[in-house]
Amino acid sequence: MAQIRLDKFISERTEYTRSQIKELASKGKITVGGIAVKKSDTKIDPDTAEVEVCGQRIGSSRYRYILLNKPQGYVCSTDDKDGETVMKLVPPEMRTKGMFPAGRLDKDSVGALLITDDGELAHRILSPKGHIPKVYIVKLARPFENNYINKFEQGIVLSDGETCLPARLKKAENSDKLAFVELHEGKYHQVKRMFASVGNHVEILMRVSMGALILPEKLAIGQCMELLHKDVENLFRKEDFETFCDRYSPIFSANLINNQL
Ligand code: URA
Repeated sequence: MAQIRLDKFISERTEYTRSQIKELASKGKITVGGIAVKKSDTKIDPDTAEVEVCGQRIGSSRYRYILLNKPQGYVCSTDDKDGETVMKLVPPEMRTKGMFPAGRLDKDSVGALLITDDGELAHRILSPKGHIPKVYIVKLARPFENNYINKFEQGIVLSDGETCLPARLKKAENSDKLAFVELHEGKYHQVKRMFASVGNHVEILMRVSMGALILPEKLAIGQCMELLHKDVENLFRKEDFETFCDRYSPIFSANLINNQL
């Protein structure tokens, strides 16, 4: 691979400008292969160089993928006209110029949210043709009823007459008010409206997986982590819904029961 300038490599993958990079390099804050490089015009191999800025590794990929455990009270947008945005929660060393939330969770919803600057990947995730199943755990106002399962599988008709695609549903452990739901589409307030149509009410909604990318237990609410290539590929793999619920019910149920949000 042709070599490129260190400052070009860093500026394409972070929010730092070339003059900031020059300054950071002169202070010894940029390392390549563990060795401080004081001149930001040094040439590096973008595929193999191990570049760190202020101790934070800068991946070789042109694009960056951040998984946020979204807290309540933030909007999924880059524009703060409707309130504080999730972009405020991405630390500066993880941020790049073109980043945006690849998907929507309501302001009061929590859980897995991908933030990236890869428009093509975002399109694949959001497009109905992408068929990426998304699993949510909900805390209901009234006890779960087994008859919901069949209704969700048949395709819920929302109050405006719109029909949803078949969705899977399973009661979670430890509480008769917790349930997992798996959707293959993303209509406006869909989960909340689906439960409203069977006479219940969603009090808390947390997205716990997208494809086989599962919200890690160690990722605290409000925290971000950088995803590796293999994590991003997990988006396009499928998890068996029943197995997923059995395995993760104790963990995610505990989050909602204890209000760890
Ligand atoms: N469905 C909802 O109702 N809200 C969300 O945030 C996501 C899915």
